[in-house]
This record gives sequence, structure tokens and C-alpha cells, in this order.
Amino acid sequence: MLAERLAGISASASLKVAAEADRLRRAGVDVVDLGAGEPDFDTPDHVKKAGIAAIEANFTRYTPAAGILELREAICARYRTDYGVTITPAEVMTTAGGKQALFNIALVLFNPGDEVITHAPYWPTIPEQVKLTGATPVIVQTRSEDGFTVHAEGIISAITPRTKAIIINSPGNPTGALVTEAALAKIADAAASRGIWIIVDLCYERLIYEPEPHNLPRILFEKMRDRTILAGSASKAYAMTGWRCGWTIAPPVLTTACNTVQGHSTSNIASMTQKAALAALTGPQDAVTRMLDEYRERRDNVHAWLTATPSIRCVKPKGAFYLFPDISDLLSPDGLRTSAQFAEALLEQARVAVTPGEAFDAPAYIRISYATSQERLREGATRILSFAESLSRRSIAAG
Ligand SMILES: Cc1ncc(COP(=O)(O)O)c(C=O)c1O
Repeated sequence: MLAERLAGISASASLKVAAEADRLRRAGVDVVDLGAGEPDFDTPDHVKKAGIAAIEANFTRYTPAAGILELREAICARYRTDYGVTITPAEVMTTAGGKQALFNIALVLFNPGDEVITHAPYWPTIPEQVKLTGATPVIVQTRSEDGFTVHAEGIISAITPRTKAIIINSPGNPTGALVTEAALAKIADAAASRGIWIIVDLCYERLIYEPEPHNLPRILFEKMRDRTILAGSASKAYAMTGWRCGWTIAPPVLTTACNTVQGHSTSNIASMTQKAALAALTGPQDAVTRMLDEYRERRDNVHAWLTATPSIRCVKPKGAFYLFPDISDLLSPDGLRTSAQFAEALLEQARVAVTPGEAFDAPAYIRISYATSQERLREGATRILSFAESLSRRSIAAG
């Protein structure tokens, strides 16, 4: 009955835990939810006011599919300030979140039979969108031992004559890892000489905790501007997930193609969202800094709390708002065998919701979101630690 393109496409594995957590909460159970992939902060007031003002001024009609010129100009100005790169509005398309930004690109660029390289552990939407176009995702694994670093050599050795594009996500979900400028430069040299596109998912670009150089746009523009695509989003930086505002920055010919695709699917993003995003991008950025400082403190705390037990090994992430601990020491053939079983038992017995690593092509890991209050994080960490201790005791008793 369903179209063939759906064969092999998985629904989000995190949904199962989320649905069960929701069921328990409705039944009055005190669940600590560390599954969220979105900021717990409210949208900043001046941004909300801009959205409300847009509605009250009857700014409620269709706009150009690419978005109003002021918003596209504001995106250009933002990237000029943040990265020193010059972009024109003809290269900018606004989209219903970073998700649609990436999907437009996949639709206009990938053919059945093409290969698209990306790195794992990954955000599952990336390979699933590739598959929806009939192209094949080619996955390059990164390892926790070196902080999930994307090595240029790994990506370059995955290139074949069928490679159409390379998708880099930095900071990465779920690892929080950053691709280094040096690695990206090497990848760009290899891609440019073979006519391969590079797509960078910069969804978490404003959530970087260390003063590490991360000017990916400048490197790509210098080396291969005509084959560079940047995908951005207001969702995480400005706590605007529900407003749905993302964008692509791509050569005009590609932006025009995205305009055609989106013009025949969703058209423009909500008009009032555009005004709100304009306020977010052009207004004071202190809310971004405040959220970043708070996330950093949470990251440091929850990392310290969880790694108090040697059975949980965890890289300290450099960006985004997730910890991605290795829980393999807590799995066993006669106990909890997979991280999916671990996450299920953790929810049932300790009342903590986390996302199992299988969702990100990383069995033996779990993803913990620290986009929640310090108090709930402390409670969640305490419960996880005593759950881990009970598993260790059980395995000692069994062994
Ligand atoms: C790596 C990554 N890219 C893009 C997105 C897209 O988010 P949105 O569509 O809300 O902009 C997400 C959302 O979780 C993400 O984790």
C-alpha cells in the first residue's frame, strides 16, 4: 500500500521512550525526563512580542516562499558578524526549521544511486532523509575514545565515484563533538577536487562551550563556495523550537531549486514566525549567552555526577546540550543486553527517561539531554547512579 520510498525508513526510536514516559506522567508518576531534544528555556520576551505584534498588525498573509527580504538580510548580517562571510539574500531560503532546510537540499540534490557520506553517532533524520530520496547514506563511525572527533581521513576514504555530498553536523547531536577547522579544510580540499557538495548542519552553532575555533563557513567559502550548503536554525539558539524557523545558505541556483520545491509543498514559513525570528537575529543576543552559560554549568555538573561511578564513561561534550555516555559496562548477556533494554528498565524502575543509543547508530550508549533544570538533573543523576549500582550488584551476585 505504501510507496516504496518508505521501505527501510525508521520512525524515531526515541518516540517509544517518550510515549512511555508520557504515559507514566499521566498516571501521576514522577518521571525525570532527560529525553528532550529542545531547550527548556522560554522564547525571549522581545522575540515573543515581535510575533504578537505581527499578528496584531495583521501580518498574517502569504509571504514569498523564501521568506521576507528583511529576514533573509538579517540572516546574512548574522553570518557576517559571526563568521566574517558575505552572503546575499539570493542565497538564503527560510524553512520550517533546520529539518526542512536539510530536506529541501536532499530533494533538490540527491538522486537514487547517489551516495551521501555522514558521520555516526548521528542525528537519525540525516540518514533517513537521504534514504527518502533513494540515495544511500554512507556512515563513517567516530569513537568515544577520541571524543567522537570526525577525522578527515575517515570521511575521505569513504568517497567513491558515486559520492554526491558529505553531511557534517557540528556541534553534533548526540555527541556534542565539534569538527575541527583543520579536518574540515582537508575534507573540503578532497571534495572540491571531485565536485562533491558539503552540507554543514549548524543547528547548534550558538551552543559551543569552549573557545575553540569553529569558523566552518569561512573555510568552506574560501575553498568551495559553489558547492557549500549551510543549514541553520533558530530553534536551539533562541529557544524557538515550536515557531519553526530554519534556513539554508546555498548558491543561488540551488536556492532557486529549494524555492521551487518548498513553493510546491509548504510555501513560506508562518509570517509571524518570520517577524519573531527577525527580532531574535537582530535584537540583543544576551539571552543566547545566558542560556549558554547555564547549559555549560549543567553540563559540567551532570558530567561530574554521572562519572562518579566508573561504570559510566562519558566524554565531556564541547557543544549542543547532550551527554552521550558509554554504558557498556552495565550491559550483560544475562541482564540488560542493549541500551534500548537499559533505557526501558531505567524508565520503569528508576523513573528516568533517556534516549537509547540505537537511535543514533550507537548501541551501548544513551543520550542524556541537559536541557532541563539543575534540580531535575541532580535528581535524574541520583536515580541513574543508584540504578547503575543495583545493576552492578546484581551482576556481582550472578557472577
Ligand atoms: C542535529 C540537528 N539538526 C537539525 C535539527 C533540526 O531542528 P529544527 O527543525 O527544530 O530546526 C535538530 C533537531 O533536533 C538537530 O538535532
